[in-house]
Amino acid sequence: MDRRSLGDVDPEDIGSNRSGETTMGELIARRLGRRAALRGLAGAGAAAALTADLLGNTALAQATGPSTLTFKEVPHGLDRMHHVPEGYEAQVVIRWGDPVVSGAPAFDPTALTVAAQEKQFGYNCDFIGLHPLPAGSPAGDRFLMVVNHEYTDPGLMFAGLGAGRNVNLKASKPQVEVEMAAHGGSVIEIQRDNGTWKVVPESRYARRITGTSPIDVSGPAAGHDKLKTSADPTGRKVLGMLNNCAGGSTPWGTWLTCEENFNGYFGGDADKMPDAKAYKRYGVSKATWYAWAQHIDRFDVEKEPNEPNRFGWVVEIDPYDPGSPPVKRTALGRFKHEGCTYALAKDGRVVFYTGDDERFDYVYKFVTARPWNPNDRAANKDLLDEGTLYVARFNDDGKVEWLPLVHGQGPLTAENGFASQADVVIQARMAADLLKPTPMDRPEDIETNPATGRVYVMLTNNTRRTEQQVNRANPLARNAHGHVIEIAPKDGDHASAEGTWSIFLVGGRPGMDPGARYHRQVSENGWLSCVDNCAFDSKGRIWIATDGAPTAAGIADGLYGADTTGYGKGLTRCFFQAPSGAEVCGPIVTPDDSTVFLAIQHPGEDAGSSFDKPSTRWPDFQENMPPRPSVIAITKKGGGPIGS
Ligand code: FEO
Ligand code: CA
Ligand code: CA
Repeated sequence: MDRRSLGDVDPEDIGSNRSGETTMGELIARRLGRRAALRGLAGAGAAAALTADLLGNTALAQATGPSTLTFKEVPHGLDRMHHVPEGYEAQVVIRWGDPVVSGAPAFDPTALTVAAQEKQFGYNCDFIGLHPLPAGSPAGDRFLMVVNHEYTDPGLMFAGLGAGRNVNLKASKPQVEVEMAAHGGSVIEIQRDNGTWKVVPESRYARRITGTSPIDVSGPAAGHDKLKTSADPTGRKVLGMLNNCAGGSTPWGTWLTCEENFNGYFGGDADKMPDAKAYKRYGVSKATWYAWAQHIDRFDVEKEPNEPNRFGWVVEIDPYDPGSPPVKRTALGRFKHEGCTYALAKDGRVVFYTGDDERFDYVYKFVTARPWNPNDRAANKDLLDEGTLYVARFNDDGKVEWLPLVHGQGPLTAENGFASQADVVIQARMAADLLKPTPMDRPEDIETNPATGRVYVMLTNNTRRTEQQVNRANPLARNAHGHVIEIAPKDGDHASAEGTWSIFLVGGRPGMDPGARYHRQVSENGWLSCVDNCAFDSKGRIWIATDGAPTAAGIADGLYGADTTGYGKGLTRCFFQAPSGAEVCGPIVTPDDSTVFLAIQHPGEDAGSSFDKPSTRWPDFQENMPPRPSVIAITKKGGGPIGS
């Protein structure tokens, strides 16, 4: 999320990890001497040998030839339209307010109601997952598409609220209830018909999950006192999932949807409460971002102190079974999960990578206790309830260590406030702090390249990192444009507690922004800023979506493709440009490489932009129709694999 409507308040900054401010200090200075280190980081024209060594970057050294991606790049710019390369087209698949569930009324932006919104596509689409139909079939022309609805922009949704940093706080109770209905996720059925992707009306799989849907809690924290509230004395049934940003899937075909900035919904004076320290570590404070706590008691921590503990989880949903309850899987820890994507360990256990998107927070992985069973789907039902959560330490020798967050091991004991594994997962950030992992520059998506088994970590930016805090894995002070780390698990085994890492690229404009690092042949349009989500095509090429480039670099957010191996490794090329105010989320490439789906989130979220005077009316461009967050499908005219 970028959320410019909050003015200069950055939502990922409120609960920042203070332990990161003094930990990593002089790593580069230790290796090269402080002066040489700063010289190497400051200039894109610095000697390649020095910087390559300094950054652990192999891209420059290997890259001497062109990319395998041959599309004509979209020129950098920023306007109210979207842009695709010549020879490509984008179709809107579904927009905010379009029907999802049977009986949904037509979208009427002047008369939003809870009853309508609960049946319509929600706001601010983010993660997109594809699950083939029929279940278990090879992927073809029919899928269940699952989509997250991360947050709401009341100033763009409702007439008359206006713009400005406090607009979110002006929403009335009926408007807040519509906002809650616009959160969560959607399951839709899509089918390709004559090359065009269409939503199948009245699908029996269609489903909306909202900010009030009943959701089960499982794993170590289920039933714990810290999860009990006046409405739920069991601590096992939460109403709603919130701020679902990125996500993932499982080998057994379920959808993982991740609660990210849940803290922003809560109000009340957190500082005076007994749990003030924990609230602070998670950014729960009276500086709430929404009007929810004004109108609904459970979002006021003075009235319902445990409610924040019931958010910040990975939620598992079975899209093939519309009647099945979503489940918050607490074994994967509670923090601001960006996404949660899997890779298979050599012994069949399943490994889930998940990042905590906050300045100076951490990269995690979860390894299931048991292998998954490909022959018995039901046997995998609760696989996510048992396993080991690890947090990453990126050492300056190029090695990564995965440190287990297990009650009773190391400092995770009752004396330090962790009396059980439930305590460890509920306060996972504070448990992780004790293990001294590496504070990162806001970990967003983490995904495994299916062609190589290497893992890519999107680190979006961190302008608060000081020169004393740089380390080899986060090599820039005031990192405005973010970077990407590539991890090679030891012996190719994702369950291994060790691996090696290197830097794949550093964002920003080559030659202008300190430390910007790409393949040397990146074009004037191919550089990027603020990496967020990523996907891979069947050839193992990476597709990177950005969030924040307009503010950081004066260009639209977009989608960029690059090779991950060979001569074109790290040569990013601009494939898509978003309309004004929007970030690009949820990239996913169909298994036949014919289509890339994108979630265009918060179009029109610009300073001064409102329902009544939006900066764009994308994608409809109709008078009186506000901008509408939408999923689009990009294909090559006449068909064929995207990119080349
Ligand atoms: Fe919702 Fe970390 O982006
Ligand atoms: Ca983001
Ligand atoms: Ca994101």
